[in-house]
Amino acid sequence: MNKIVVPIVCLLYSLQGIVAQDPFYFLKQCHRDDPNINICLKQSANYLIANIRRGIPEIGLTEPEPVIIDEISIALGSGPDGYRASFRNIHGYGVSNISVTAVRSDVNSHQFQFTMYIPKVSVRANYESSGILILVQASGGGQYWGEYEGIKCKVYIRASPHRIGQRTFLSLQQIKMDFSVKNIRMGVENVHNGNSVIQAALNLFINTNAQELLKEMKPDIKKKLLLIMSNFVENVFANVPYDAWIL
Ligand SMILES: *[C@@H]1O[C@H](CO)[C@@H](O)[C@H](O)[C@H]1NC(C)=O
Repeated sequence: MNKIVVPIVCLLYSLQGIVAQDPFYFLKQCHRDDPNINICLKQSANYLIANIRRGIPEIGLTEPEPVIIDEISIALGSGPDGYRASFRNIHGYGVSNISVTAVRSDVNSHQFQFTMYIPKVSVRANYESSGILILVQASGGGQYWGEYEGIKCKVYIRASPHRIGQRTFLSLQQIKMDFSVKNIRMGVENVHNGNSVIQAALNLFINTNAQELLKEMKPDIKKKLLLIMSNFVENVFANVPYDAWIL
């Protein structure tokens, strides 16, 4: 009898070892005394991103695409004829192709800076505008499209630790970000209250002034992206004990 039972018990034990996977399998663990901790943190972040692309239902990250922003506004010039536009229902595709290219950290004070790169983001939105843009009465609305290539992004995070039961968790104290875009192509289409001449004039204007327009929109874009990023970071911090990430 024992001849059979012992191997079966052994088999069950080893199966349990295989089945009971690490609950934080989606993150690579780094060690605070690793002299190359920044390289490890970079790999860990890219590993997390690769898992997010597949979906991490355990922490509610299942649909990485698209990134949705409710609204962004722009105002050029002042007065009653100043140009105003608002973009609504903004869908950005391609953000999940993000990769972390460098990390700087001060683990003792829980400060981290991530440098990231996204090859291309395609944006679709509805827009409505009013006022005059380069002598053209540009009131109306329609669809907006944008292709943003070569996006570099820096995110700074400061966190603080606190204990829950036996484990330490981080909470987000401060987050800052900035970004730049190498190439922008964008345009409007299906412009209502307009005609093809106005649409062509608008497209010429926004494409020749794409970087300036982005600069005007940046404060608003940053505010929205910071909100998305803080939610993301707070969600990860709330679900992953600090030592599962950095031991
Ligand atoms: C991510 O990059 C790959 C390879 O360049 C591309 O085929 C894919 O469409 C991109 N994903 C999104 C959502 O843009």
